[in-house]
Amino acid sequence: MKVLGIMGSPRMGGNSDLLLDATLKGAEAEGADCQKVILQKLDIRPCRHCDGCTRTQGRCVVQDEMQTLYEPLRTADCIVIASPTFFMSLTAQTKMMIDRCQPFWVMKYVAKAPVAQSEHPRKGLYLGVGGCDFKTLFDSARIILRSFFTIAEVPEWEMVTFDSIEHRGEIAEHPTALREAEEAGRRLARVAPRGEEARDA
Ligand SMILES: Cc1cc2nc3c(=O)[nH]c(=O)nc-3n(C[C@H](O)[C@H](O)[C@H](O)COP(=O)(O)O)c2cc1C
Repeated sequence: MKVLGIMGSPRMGGNSDLLLDATLKGAEAEGADCQKVILQKLDIRPCRHCDGCTRTQGRCVVQDEMQTLYEPLRTADCIVIASPTFFMSLTAQTKMMIDRCQPFWVMKYVAKAPVAQSEHPRKGLYLGVGGCDFKTLFDSARIILRSFFTIAEVPEWEMVTFDSIEHRGEIAEHPTALREAEEAGRRLARVAPRGEEARDA
């Protein structure tokens, strides 16, 4: 199983970073081959709606480090997105990466070509954290990720979220969070028996 972990927080060693590491540790324990990408360290520009991906039937023409992510996003068996809540949504780094997946939309709906090139049925996971405890804290993330995972052809995905976590690394003091994240990684990396195709969350 190939697991792609995307770290969407700008804060290294922060809560999302720790959660993602725990998930990847769990996946590795199940034998998965894990890759971690830190969006903050990549030169990724926002989608400029130039329609280059429409003209090319699904290739982004913007030459920046997003180009290094298209192939891993298409071939991963599991995609994990870790992002804290910023203004009740995903971080700009995460949303920018998602917007740059517009070529996948073109592949799927215009070129009618497959986006996913994974070996196994694809699975996804969102690791979320936020400082307050609003009931609606992860609503926006859920809506955006439903759209992203649909376009990326990830039919089965789940959310593991923690509210009331504000300070860098505070998640490590949570009684169960890192264990839950690690267990989610183990679940993700377990290969489903054939025929047990997943449903949308
Ligand atoms: C720009 C900014 C916006 C934020 N907006 C929210 C918010 O809308 N709701 C919330 O609960 N926490 C918000 N927070 C707090 C973070 O979600 C919280 O500190 C989180 O633990 C950071 O995770 P990290 O360590 O992975 O970066 C915000 C923090 C920043 C810097």
